[in-house]
Parts: sequence; C-alpha cells; structure tokens
Amino acid sequence: MIRSVEISDVRVNYENTFLEEYRVCYMVPSRADQVLNIIEKTVNAWYPIIGPWRGRILADTVRRLRPRRVLEVGTLVGYSAILMAKELDSDAEIITLEIDRDEAELAEENIRRARVKPTVRVLVGDALEIIPILEGYFDLVFLDAVKNEYYDYLRLVEAKLYKGSVVVADNAEAYAYSMKRYLDYVRYSGRYESRLVSADGDGMEISTKL
Ligand SMILES: C[S@@+](CC[C@H](N)C(=O)[O-])C[C@H]1O[C@@H](n2cnc3c(N)ncnc32)[C@H](O)[C@@H]1O
Repeated sequence: MIRSVEISDVRVNYENTFLEEYRVCYMVPSRADQVLNIIEKTVNAWYPIIGPWRGRILADTVRRLRPRRVLEVGTLVGYSAILMAKELDSDAEIITLEIDRDEAELAEENIRRARVKPTVRVLVGDALEIIPILEGYFDLVFLDAVKNEYYDYLRLVEAKLYKGSVVVADNAEAYAYSMKRYLDYVRYSGRYESRLVSADGDGMEISTKL
C-alpha cells in the first residue's frame, strides 16, 4: 500500500545523439511520468491500479478524443487520473470520485506532485450519490470502482453524455460476470457502439454514445 510518493531529482532516462547536428537531446520524464513510475514500482501485482498496459489504452483514448470534461469513478491513489491528465491541457477538467477519504487524500497529494495541466477535482463520497448532483456534461467517463455497480453509474451519468461521448469500463474480461448487466446494456441496448479491447490478461469495454 502506498502511503506517499517521494520524488527526488529529475532523472535523465534516455540519451540520443544526432551526429549530423552535433547535438545531444535529453528526454527528461515529466513529473507526471515520475509519479506514475513510482506508483507502479511501489505497488504489488494485486494492487488495483489500471497499470501501464491498460493505461496505455486509456491514454490513447484520451489523446484521440481530447475531452474537455472527464468523470472518473474510482480514484484510489490517483494513478489513472494522472495518466489521463497528462494527456490534456489546462482547459480540461477531470472530476474523480472516491468513497475512501484516506485514498482520496493520497490521490490529491499525488496529483499535486504530478503537476498536470488540467484541473483535477477529487470528490469524496459514494459515486451513486454524487453522480446525480454533478452539473454539466462529460466527454469521457472512466468506470473503475465496484464492478456490479457499473450499470448504475452509467445510468446515472447517461443524461450528462453527448452523442459521441465515450465510456471506458475497466476489468471487462476479468470481471465480465459481475459486469454482465453493464456489458449487455452497452452492447445490445442500441444506445452505444461498444467494443472490448484486451490487454494484460483483462480488458476494457470502450463504448461510444450514439
Ligand atoms: C480499482 S480502484 C481504482 C483504481 C484507479 N482507477 C486507478 O487505476 O488508479 C477502485 C476504487 O473505487 C473506490 N470505490 C468503490 N466504490 C465506490 C463508490 N461507490 N464511489 C466512489 N468510489 C468507490 C474504491 O475505494 C477504490 O479506491
């Protein structure tokens, strides 16, 4: 369990020499990358962050969609929130919901250390109670809390989605049984175009609102 994340000096992890130009370029990892790396190295294999493999799918989705407003359900220590935030500019906003106050405080600390550009608001409480009182619309929703509540989260946020908004649901292979109602809904209700993307022994259901 991570209790805090410390960043020492910025480290250079890659050096590339362009001989023609007699120039040396250094790729310095961003603060966000450093925080993500430290979280990845600190936790064990069972710690439920999305991790780098499915994280890459989520980051690709964010990069492609360029959402202005993101809702995340299930913050934990802020790993996936930082991962999404580092793809976005300062005009974006991420609202992330976490029921456990201690985890939410850690997430806020990690997000602060990551120095990402968007505004990231960590709201403490039960997503089933918070989603109905959120104002405005969301371009992207990332579901990563209690698997058999995914259907309820989606139904509560559905009126705040645009046509073309994307909902990403983690653990759609490993927890397919618990997520059955959700998966049946996004695949067969006719309200979404939905596909499963497999990675790292699990999968993410990526659903676009029609
Ligand atoms: C799988 S973890 C989230 C991991 C995080 N998305 C990541 O990849 O870094 C699930 C989190 O959801 C939180 N959670 C569970 N039920 C919730 C609810 N009803 N509302 C808000 N958060 C909830 C848990 O406390 C836990 O921190």
